Amino acid sequence: MNIGSETHKQLFCGEFLDHHRSYEPAQLAWPALDDQALALLRGLPFWTHALQAEEDAGPMITACAALEPDVLIRRALELQAFEETRHARIIEHMIERYGLHADDISVEVPADAWEAFIDFGFEECLDSFGAFGLFALARASLSVPAPLFDIFDRVMQEEATHIVFFLNWFAYRQANRGPASRLFRHAKALRHYTRALRKLMALARANDAPAGKDFIVSGASAFVDNLNARVVLAACVAENARRLAGFDRRLLVPCLAPRLARLALGLLRWMPGRRAPAATVGNLAIPPAGRP
Ligand SMILES: [Fe+2]
Ligand SMILES: [Fe+2]
Repeated sequence: MNIGSETHKQLFCGEFLDHHRSYEPAQLAWPALDDQALALLRGLPFWTHALQAEEDAGPMITACAALEPDVLIRRALELQAFEETRHARIIEHMIERYGLHADDISVEVPADAWEAFIDFGFEECLDSFGAFGLFALARASLSVPAPLFDIFDRVMQEEATHIVFFLNWFAYRQANRGPASRLFRHAKALRHYTRALRKLMALARANDAPAGKDFIVSGASAFVDNLNARVVLAACVAENARRLAGFDRRLLVPCLAPRLARLALGLLRWMPGRRAPAATVGNLAIPPAGRP
């Protein structure tokens, strides 16, 4: 199958539309939480950031859909906008139900919606890679009722469909914009990935950022004891592979973050004093690292 062909378009749009599940956030099986679980959720610093990201996404993708001339791609974009808006409604419902804190937020549609969507898409590819692993670690370590994890498992899997759709849409678009765009698709993707990585690193390091912005570091360390690079990277690699395994193998899937993570795990293996046995976090098995 040629990337950029009609077959490619039918496949990446069709897969995306087929994966959609219909549900309403308020009707999900929200569990009652005990004081310990409530305190844990209320202590997590990322509710404002999470809500803002999901609230921003819906209107921005709706703006892209309104500009899209192709009927099938427009339908897929409208569906993604709907799902991102539903993610925001899930977080809003959770904030209200469990008395979590999030600052007031405001949403603006960016002037260049396509450029914003492309930046957003590459950010989602990187974000999701980290989120898949951290979610699995959280699920394995926290004493929070399983139905709450089941709700967010749905969200995680929807994010997996978004990144597969986005990456294929981006490749399809570049392939149909002439030989120069086709030739520089990887360079352009790398530029957007670099921008996304810079943003994520700034977010992770932002000690003086408003509360909730340092969500990656404090969010992860809040729920996993003995957190270290090997445990997190190994969980991210394994979960990423598991969540992307169900898509048609002819489709492109994000591979930059998993490749870099596998490289880092390989380097950790050869660093003196870094040998580490197999470990478990809750019921999640982490493979061993170190020279064989
Ligand atoms: Fe989302
Ligand atoms: Fe998404």
